Amino acid sequence: MLKGVFISLSQNQLLTTAAKKYGLKLGAQTVVAGTTVEETINSIRKLNALGISATVDNLGEYSIEREEALEAKASILEVIESIHTNGVDAHISLKPTQLGLDIDYDFCYENLLEIVAAASKYNMHINIDMEDYDHLQPSFDLMDDLLKEYDNVGTVIQAYFDRAQDDLEKYKDLRMRIVKGAYKEPIEYAFQTKEDIDENFIKLIEYHLLHGKFTSIATHDHRIIDQVKKFVKENNIPNDKFEFQMLYGFRKDMQVDLAKQGYNFCTYVPFGDDWYAYFMRRLAERPQNLNLVVKQVFNK
Ligand code: FDA
Repeated sequence: MLKGVFISLSQNQLLTTAAKKYGLKLGAQTVVAGTTVEETINSIRKLNALGISATVDNLGEYSIEREEALEAKASILEVIESIHTNGVDAHISLKPTQLGLDIDYDFCYENLLEIVAAASKYNMHINIDMEDYDHLQPSFDLMDDLLKEYDNVGTVIQAYFDRAQDDLEKYKDLRMRIVKGAYKEPIEYAFQTKEDIDENFIKLIEYHLLHGKFTSIATHDHRIIDQVKKFVKENNIPNDKFEFQMLYGFRKDMQVDLAKQGYNFCTYVPFGDDWYAYFMRRLAERPQNLNLVVKQVFNK
């Protein structure tokens, strides 16, 4: 039930706007790297010093005005330049709806093309994050169109969708991130139980590890991570074929441990003032994350 409440809160426009105005609150500063590019580069430097790379997300989604989407594009271009100038180990994650997918497909494509072209100059990867089901196929279409011109693009497969295996087979030659899926999706096309989602998640990860180009295994679930470690060992899959990913601020000790054990590790680093929906989705996934909020409130 709590999951539904937090997902609804994440979609509340009024609260999103208020949150932007009043800065990082409610404990969000624990899971958001900063509000400026400079703060974010500093956070990435600290991760790099621990042997961890970063994928940087300029927070925000569902732009309804062209202006918003253009501002987001400018901010992402600035991050790409800063990553290059500062020589930090990082690439970009972005959301098509932030860059105008709900406004106009071609407008969004042009925005993405400019970003992918800028990153390609520095051999930097661009990951297209996957949002809800309504945006799934349009996001794959965007990637297909971008791949006609550039090869530094990949995306995300959400294990809760029953079409996930077909999508992964289609994109086996790409660098792909595999996740369980963060949105609330209906039974018509999405697995609903934790058991079914976990089972599909493992199946997809193993498939891409065996047949895919490069696999980013994005999860905080130690049981899945242990299973992957066992699988790569049994199948002689070298460490340079995959990485583990977790979100900034979550299971920090485990992130460092995995890097120390010699696995490639990449932290998803969100930054910016549009933190509200991102933070609500984290609460939806794991209501225990409310602890973060309570600690922040009482540590003032
Ligand atoms: P899940 O939340 O299912 O937890 C499983 C178990 O792990 C828990 O029962 C607990 O035992 C343990 N655990 C989990 N978190 C813990 C914590 N903080 N502390 C202690 N124990 C904990 N989704 C999407 O739809 N599109 C996308 O593009 C992305 N991108 C993305 C990138 C990255 C880097 C990550 C890590 C995740 C995403 N996601 C995503 C989100 C993803 O789909 C999923 O919703 C969350 O990762 C939550 O699922 P988990 O697999 O992490 O574990």
